[in-house]
Amino acid sequence: MRMYDIIAKKRDGFELSTEEINFFVGGCTTEEIPDYQISALLMAIYLNGMTDREIYDLTLAMAKSGQQADLGGIDGVTVDKHSTGGVGDKTTLIVAPLAAALGVRVAKMSGRGLGHTGGTVDKLESIDGFKTTLSPDEFVRCVNDVGVCVIGQSGNLAPADKKLYALRDVTATVSSIPLIASSIMSKKIASGNSCILLDVKTGSGAFMKTPDEAYVLAEQMVKIGAAAGRKTAALVTNMNIPLGYAVGNSLEVIEALRILKGEQTDELYHLCVELAANMLRLASEKPIEECRVLAANAISDGSALRKFEEMTAAQGGDVRLLKNTRLFKRASGVHSVRSKKSGFICHMDSEKIGMSAVILGAGRTKKGDSVDHSAGIVLRKKTGDYTEQGEEIAVLYTNNPSSTLQAESVYLDALTYSNDKPDKPPLIISSIMG
Ligand code: URA
Repeated sequence: MRMYDIIAKKRDGFELSTEEINFFVGGCTTEEIPDYQISALLMAIYLNGMTDREIYDLTLAMAKSGQQADLGGIDGVTVDKHSTGGVGDKTTLIVAPLAAALGVRVAKMSGRGLGHTGGTVDKLESIDGFKTTLSPDEFVRCVNDVGVCVIGQSGNLAPADKKLYALRDVTATVSSIPLIASSIMSKKIASGNSCILLDVKTGSGAFMKTPDEAYVLAEQMVKIGAAAGRKTAALVTNMNIPLGYAVGNSLEVIEALRILKGEQTDELYHLCVELAANMLRLASEKPIEECRVLAANAISDGSALRKFEEMTAAQGGDVRLLKNTRLFKRASGVHSVRSKKSGFICHMDSEKIGMSAVILGAGRTKKGDSVDHSAGIVLRKKTGDYTEQGEEIAVLYTNNPSSTLQAESVYLDALTYSNDKPDKPPLIISSIMG
């Protein structure tokens, strides 16, 4: 088999066979296929698309290209939750212990933040002592003992995807539904969970800019999950506004604790209840209405918060911080952002707000950079809120005072104002029950 012929076949709009796709993925993993041929095929896929069968074959070949987690030692049904990435997205911190409090087994591998989006692993590491690297045995034991464990993704999970993603990033081929769906699902399948709940984001801070595109991506991933024998469902949710009020690692943990303590019952709370309810539905087949009631109860009766504390203790974290969030390390610099004009905020560009947090030190622009766990932003006003000129609209936290002016300018540039109160779009736009 020759890579040249595979590229030509896809360039001319034909369907690749399973053998051809396996040959391609195998050659990416062993590095036998040069980057220029991989990139040429990626562009041909970007332009001509793939059939469902090709997408499934690509996903499975990438899932099998490295280590596959063995969750066979876990008693009970394991459910994974995956978000396609957003600004202020701390849902895993809330939903993982919440679902575990409902009896769902949550064996979750999460990523670090890159670019304008944050990562769960960085957030958890803002809790002193919290270990996100465990051996496979420790991971399984923690899930069996506590019901939930969240660790960093193994370095050898779907290495073929890692290779392809790095090339997509520099060849303008990221935003292809077959390539995004296979990339995400290859890692989900290799992670070994029997059920998968996807939170597909749409809007300014997301890969999929419109709800329609996000729905097509969600549908594609649900199809792949089902073909691989995993019960899979998806929600399409709005990322035209950061999630909640905190952006940045320890600030997001503190906000997650407010939700778990029942002190904040806004849209973020409702999204987390909906996500946990869907995880329970996948695991138990109980009706969704009943799952929603059970999820809300697990917050109000404190059992979800207790699970978060148990998980933190089991993973070596200092539980005292959860009980008294004033013990989290604070940034030395605090800067109040004031509105330049009066009016309603009618749009917030989440990507720019995420970048403003990165400038303050909360994220990384390239892999391997360190993050400042205490840096970030607390939003005081969001889309739909009225603000007077000069009123405080956000607070910036940083240990690098020279970053403040640039971060403030990017933040202000993210906001659009109107004279009339704008309609507030729903946070949960659609769902695919799977
Ligand atoms: N996340 C992934 O893991 N892969 C993509 O292609 C896009 C988002």
